[in-house]
Amino acid sequence: MIKKGIILAGGLGTRMSPITKAVNKQLLPLYDKPLIYYPLSVLMLAGIKNILIIVNKGQLNQFQKILPKNNHLGLNIQYKEQPEPRGLPDAFLIGEKFIGKDNVALILGDNFFYGQNFTHKLRKCIKLKKGASVFVHPVKNPNLYGVAKVNSKNIILKIIEKPKKFISNLAVTGLYFFDNNVVKYSKNLKPSQRKEIEITDLLNIYRKKRQLNSEFLGRGGVWLDTGCIEDFYSASSFISTIENRQGFKIACLEEISFKNKWIKKIQIREMISFYGNCDYSKYLKSLIK
Ligand code: TTP
Repeated sequence: MIKKGIILAGGLGTRMSPITKAVNKQLLPLYDKPLIYYPLSVLMLAGIKNILIIVNKGQLNQFQKILPKNNHLGLNIQYKEQPEPRGLPDAFLIGEKFIGKDNVALILGDNFFYGQNFTHKLRKCIKLKKGASVFVHPVKNPNLYGVAKVNSKNIILKIIEKPKKFISNLAVTGLYFFDNNVVKYSKNLKPSQRKEIEITDLLNIYRKKRQLNSEFLGRGGVWLDTGCIEDFYSASSFISTIENRQGFKIACLEEISFKNKWIKKIQIREMISFYGNCDYSKYLKSLIK
C-alpha cells in the first residue's frame, strides 16, 4: 500500500513569465483556489496522508501561508526546497529520506485531474507492490508530450518524448506510482542535453524490465496540464463551469479530509475563520450544517 506522496511544486514557470517572475505557478489561482490545492487533493483522494511538497528555494514561507498547519487537514505535510530545477526525478533524490523504505506516488504540481471513478482508480493504484505505474490519457497533439505505446495488458512497451512520428495518442500524465527502487534508479540517471535528469529515462528503466504499467483515466476523465497561459485559463474556466453548475467544489481539501474521516467539524470551523468571509468559507459552512 502506498502511504507516501510527493508534490513537485518548484520549477521556473518560464512559459508563464512574467506572471511567474515573482510568484510560483503553484500559488497562482486556478479559478477559486491556489493551483497547489488540486494535486494535493489527488493524493488525498488516493488516501495518502504523508505528503512531501518540494518547493523552490526561498518560497517555503508562501506555501506555509496557504497550508498553515497540518492538523486542519489531518495530514502530515513536510516541505523540502529544491535549489534549482534539476528535473522531475530529482523529487526522489530530494525525497530520499522521506521515502525511506516505502513505495511512493509522485504528482506534478501543475497537473489537474478530474473524472468519474477517479478516486476508485487511485485507490487501486496505491496497492502497487512492485514496478511502476503511470496515468496515460489521449491527446490531440501527441507530438507535444511524452507518449506511451501500450499493449493489451496495459503494459507500456515504448515511451518517446515528443515523437516526430506517430506512435500513439496516449500522453504520459504527471501522476506516477513507484516501488522503492525509484530512489536507486534516480541516482543512476545522467543529465540530458538540457542538463536535467529526465522522467522518461527513469520510466524507461522500469519499461525495460517490463514493470511499467499504464492506468487509464478513461474517455470521460479530464487531465489538464496548466503549464502555459492558455491551458491555465482553460483549466480555470473548466473548473468554474463545473462548480457553478453543480454546486460542488473540485479540490476542496477540507471536504475530502472530512469525507475520509481524517478531520471533524471542529477543524472545518477553524478553517472557516482562517479563510474569512469568502465563497470558499460559505461552501465549508454548507458541509457541516
Ligand atoms: P515543467 O513544466 O517542466 O517546468 P515549469 O513548471 O518550471 O515550467 P516551464 O517549462 O514553463 O519553465 O515542470 C512540471 C512541474 O514540475 C511544475 O509544476 C514544476 C515542477 N518542477 C519542479 O518542481 N522541479 C523541477 O526540477 C522540474 C523540472 C519541474
